[in-house]
Amino acid sequence: MSFEPLHLSSGGTSVVLEPHAYGLPALTYWGPDLGDLAVGEISALITAQQPQRVSGGIDIQARLTLVPLESTGWQGTPGLTGDRAGTHLYPRFTVVSAERHSNGETAVIDARDDDAGLALTAHVGLTTSGLFTQRLVLTNTGDDDYEVRSLKLFFPLHHTAAEVLDTTGRHLRERTPQRHRLTAGTYARTSRRGRPGADATVLLAAGAKGFGFEHGLVQGIHLVWSGNQQVLAEKTPAGSAFLAASEVLLPGEVVLVPGESYSTPEVIGSWGEGLNELSGRFHQYLRARKSHPQRARPVTLNTWEAVYFDLDLPRLLALADRAASLGVERFVLDDGWFRGRRDDTSSLGDWYVDETVWPEGLSPVIDHVRGLGMEFGLWFEPEMVSPDSDLARAHPEWILQPEGRLPLPGRQQQVLNLGNPDAYAYILERLDDILTANDIAYVKWDHNRDLLEAADALTGHAAVHRHVEALYQLLDELRRRHPRLEIESCASGGARVDLGILARTDRIWTSDCIDPIDRLVNQKYTGLVVPPELMGMHVGGPVSHSTGRAHTLPFRAGTAVFGHYGIEWDISDLTDGEYEVLGRYVALHRAWRDDLHRGAVVHADLTDPAMDLRGIVSSDRQRALFGYSLTGSSTSYPPGPLTFPGLDPDVHYEVRPAVPEEGHPGNGQSPLAWLQSALDGEPLRLSGRTLAQAGVQAPVLLPEQTLLIELRAAAC
Ligand code: DGJ
Repeated sequence: MSFEPLHLSSGGTSVVLEPHAYGLPALTYWGPDLGDLAVGEISALITAQQPQRVSGGIDIQARLTLVPLESTGWQGTPGLTGDRAGTHLYPRFTVVSAERHSNGETAVIDARDDDAGLALTAHVGLTTSGLFTQRLVLTNTGDDDYEVRSLKLFFPLHHTAAEVLDTTGRHLRERTPQRHRLTAGTYARTSRRGRPGADATVLLAAGAKGFGFEHGLVQGIHLVWSGNQQVLAEKTPAGSAFLAASEVLLPGEVVLVPGESYSTPEVIGSWGEGLNELSGRFHQYLRARKSHPQRARPVTLNTWEAVYFDLDLPRLLALADRAASLGVERFVLDDGWFRGRRDDTSSLGDWYVDETVWPEGLSPVIDHVRGLGMEFGLWFEPEMVSPDSDLARAHPEWILQPEGRLPLPGRQQQVLNLGNPDAYAYILERLDDILTANDIAYVKWDHNRDLLEAADALTGHAAVHRHVEALYQLLDELRRRHPRLEIESCASGGARVDLGILARTDRIWTSDCIDPIDRLVNQKYTGLVVPPELMGMHVGGPVSHSTGRAHTLPFRAGTAVFGHYGIEWDISDLTDGEYEVLGRYVALHRAWRDDLHRGAVVHADLTDPAMDLRGIVSSDRQRALFGYSLTGSSTSYPPGPLTFPGLDPDVHYEVRPAVPEEGHPGNGQSPLAWLQSALDGEPLRLSGRTLAQAGVQAPVLLPEQTLLIELRAAAC
């Protein structure tokens, strides 16, 4: 069967696929919508894109196909590697059917190589927000085992792509951006941590020179998977540049017996004129999911940085009282409540309420919290086991380990092999039992170490792939049994931030670092894929526990206000002033959260690196809340204008400080005209166009201060 050229178009995006004589279709185009293309025009486009054959190479010029292989003349990173005990290394696929689905914007392409005994199905599609999605399914149609070594998905880059942006990091500093030139060769980011890792990039992006949040064509991909993985950017000597992603498979991890299939995780590509548009496509897509949290995100108090392991009942009850009086709606009891757990050296796996600390079970605290009108949440770390636990003593064979010895510990703990059916059944039963016996609305699901030498203790086989599948199954099953339960995915903060885990959970704990300076960076770059309502953002104590830096309460509270808001601070002995300010920000968040959690996230490209302007514009573009922060001293004094992206150019907005009680920020400077006007009850009215192009003068702030600015459409 010959494959007909295909033009998919949706949400402002076009993808064009063309037949390839020796394999799956070539990726002719991915990017801004090309409009309605008549059949003749698609052919003309395809002809226009045919590269010239050049000297010194193979007799057909290599093209980037959905699965580029040596059999198609491709000598870059291959789409598929695998073998039958060292043979059948070079499959050549022929398309046998292609079906465009009735909604018009997805297609399923089947290909086979009967000599190699392989069948491949490519699922490609465009979402209504213009994301390009791909997934592959490989089936062993032969008579003996076929081992899959890697199966990647490819996304062609626009010819203007010149710079790569990704993020790295570590515990307490995830999502630190890094940029470099896109040069010939391969730039790969690989995780063999059994989770994406604190250093993982949620997005690998490449774009035009100097692209920013507001300008420059940029494309990026995300792999929907919570285990070992690789994303790469590559430029070949023939000039083709692309992004690719795959699960990283360990030896023997995916061996297909005859008839068996391996499905890759989905990979999602987005593009934009600037990162604001690129991330907006992800946010719109996630918000359209049936499982996306619909009700207002409850303001949360988490006990961790408030009391750590000091789970003294009267202290917790006092904390709950104080929280409720401030407008908190969910109280989360963190680590330390289960049998034997007094610190982080023991007891993971022993998921029974500790009878010595809680002789009456958790009821005294849960009833109190519920009585105050708040929901109750509880911490678990279900995939982990402490060597010093009843569970490890009873079932050492449930611990992931190579033959004969334990891997090196991480936070004094080991990883439970969820792929072991007995271990899986035990964990499911323990969680289900506690969730059934108690009024628990929310689970904070932690995962505090990378996997090392992760093998099944009984078989010696690599176990990461299976472990991740079992984790997904466990989460799915718990959600089936407890449909109203919400789950937070935490992994020492943000070491497992991906859309695979977020398909089964309701938010991520974005970082264990709640220092607002570091959080501004972390939240900005996590937000490239994750919308704010799925990011836990908490107000910590006056001195950050992870950096030792001291910050004012308005700065701490004002930088967290955009996300799923919370408090992680011992608020039982606040001064009256602190109590009032914190309550004001909780109220502000609650008043704005519908817009914050549905609107478009925008970041301004300001030239001074110390100035940060970000905001959320309501979906009808009638309101917006912006946060202007100074993270160091500004290069200019006064700092210059703030221009506001994302507004409706034709709407006039009134511009005011969102927290007028704080009056003029800064260091005793003379009043700033527009701010003073607003404080006098006469806010300026400026069009979205003027605010985007000319803006307003930024007030002089002290370093490490935030001014929240609200914009509301003026009544005509
Ligand atoms: C790591 C998490 O990121 C913290 O928020 C806290 O839950 C601790 N684990 C508890 O051990």
